[in-house]
Amino acid sequence: MNSPLRHPIAPELLARFAKIVGDKYAVTDQAALEPQLIEGRGLYHGRTPMMLRPGNVNEVAAILKLATETGTPLVPQGGNTGLVGGQIPHDGEIIVSTTRLDKIREVDATSNTMTVESGVVLAKIQEAAAAADRLFPLSLGAEGSCTIGGNLSTNAGGTSAVAYGITRDLVIGLEVALPDGRIWNGLSKLKKDNTGYDLKNLFVGAEGTLGIITAATLKLFPRPRAVETAFAGIPSPRAALGLLNLARERAGGSVTSFELISRGVLDMALRHAHGVRDPLANVHPWYVLMELSSQSREGLRATLEDVLSSAAERSFVTDATIAASLDQAKAFWHLRFMLTESQKPEGGSIKHDISVPVAAVADFIADATKVCEAMVPGCRVVPFGHLGDGNIHFNVSQPIGADTAGFLAGWGAMNAEVDKVVMKYHGSFSAEHGIGKLKRETLKKVKDPVALEMMRAFKRTLDPKNILNPGKML
Ligand code: FAD
Ligand code: LAC
Ligand code: ZN
Repeated sequence: MNSPLRHPIAPELLARFAKIVGDKYAVTDQAALEPQLIEGRGLYHGRTPMMLRPGNVNEVAAILKLATETGTPLVPQGGNTGLVGGQIPHDGEIIVSTTRLDKIREVDATSNTMTVESGVVLAKIQEAAAAADRLFPLSLGAEGSCTIGGNLSTNAGGTSAVAYGITRDLVIGLEVALPDGRIWNGLSKLKKDNTGYDLKNLFVGAEGTLGIITAATLKLFPRPRAVETAFAGIPSPRAALGLLNLARERAGGSVTSFELISRGVLDMALRHAHGVRDPLANVHPWYVLMELSSQSREGLRATLEDVLSSAAERSFVTDATIAASLDQAKAFWHLRFMLTESQKPEGGSIKHDISVPVAAVADFIADATKVCEAMVPGCRVVPFGHLGDGNIHFNVSQPIGADTAGFLAGWGAMNAEVDKVVMKYHGSFSAEHGIGKLKRETLKKVKDPVALEMMRAFKRTLDPKNILNPGKML
């Protein structure tokens, strides 16, 4: 039996919300709502009486205004791929889905900008940029279903941040509907505009707690003329750092991805993912998936070969293969993007999305592995992630045959011990996935108290009735 909702919403009030978007776009059928109530890791199952699907910014603003007037809690949702439970209505809140805000308003190839609504799926944005012979570099495993509004709200990182930055670095302007129903038109193509506080950065990474992003002006880049992708077997994370340094010395800004993969998690992908194969003939304890990109058509492959052979001479690389075709490069990336999904059939998995200074990654992995193996003998530590950014998904799968619920009951205790190692290396316990519901208690414990108080002050100012994503982040 479900406990009573903390936020019961009267039918008459639900009807007033439905009127804003029209009955067709006010979903109340529980079977239709079900996919919107569960998140990918199966950690949470939410409850909602209604999902609203506004078709334009004015409807979003009207929803927010009515919510503030009536004290009705709302949860913004884009593609529902977030990994910290931020997009789930945990206690009967109304979902505001952005999926109908799906228009690409403009691509300006000369200004190198693109203005899009917040519900546009990331892969569509990449395609529209490519159609204009430009690159929108943000890339992540969920790109076929996550939205740019979700990427902005979680300040997603992904696999190209090493060269192009995180989502925060890729946005110039925003349009945001505020909790009181006002619309802030901060869309701008200007690189230079020193006219006060940088308000857009308040909403980037705010996880839907301060406003609903309805549109964004994004930065575009020249489309690389050559891309080379290598899959290298390496002896250790320290060797991977050696390879990274070498690649940067020889190829500079051409290093556009640098991903670390442990054999343990690769094995899981080989066991469970469709259409994957081991790119190398022999087994290696660690791997690096490295991509170089260049504006020059010639010479990039020679650069990559030079990096790999020099790395082999220094024992940073044991074996490597360079993708011979676009299809092969895609196969390497498919393997990389299947790592998250492939951990599920292996039973319980305790996650850590951490960052430390790049130089400390190898020490962090060694120390944190010892800590986890001492806590749960037989557990399988299967780290992978964005080594070029010092961001590791330090994931730990249950011992084979262990009781899943019993293992997962130790989630908090293991997080706490791993976080101590993170702190030792002056890192962050949440590098790119955000806080949401999952890491709210940890944020309270470890965030600088002055920073927390400033965050609460912004929240009180913009959302005094606490209608937007209550119980998330703060
Ligand atoms: P949702 O999940 O719907 O929402 C996420 C948060 O943003 C919620 O708090 C929600 O309330 C808020 N929100 C959504 N839209 C808006 C809006 N318009 N205005 C205000 N608030 C809003 N993340 C990384 O950083 N790097 C990765 O490499 C990466 N890889 C992933 C791979 C897989 C397979 C999966 C499943 C997830 C991955 N993620 C990664 C998680 C990542 O955060 C999300 O995929 C993405 O950024 C969220 O977009 P979404 O549209 O699904 O947002
Ligand atoms: C990835 C997700 C887990 O990097 O962030 O695959
Ligand atoms: Zn990641």
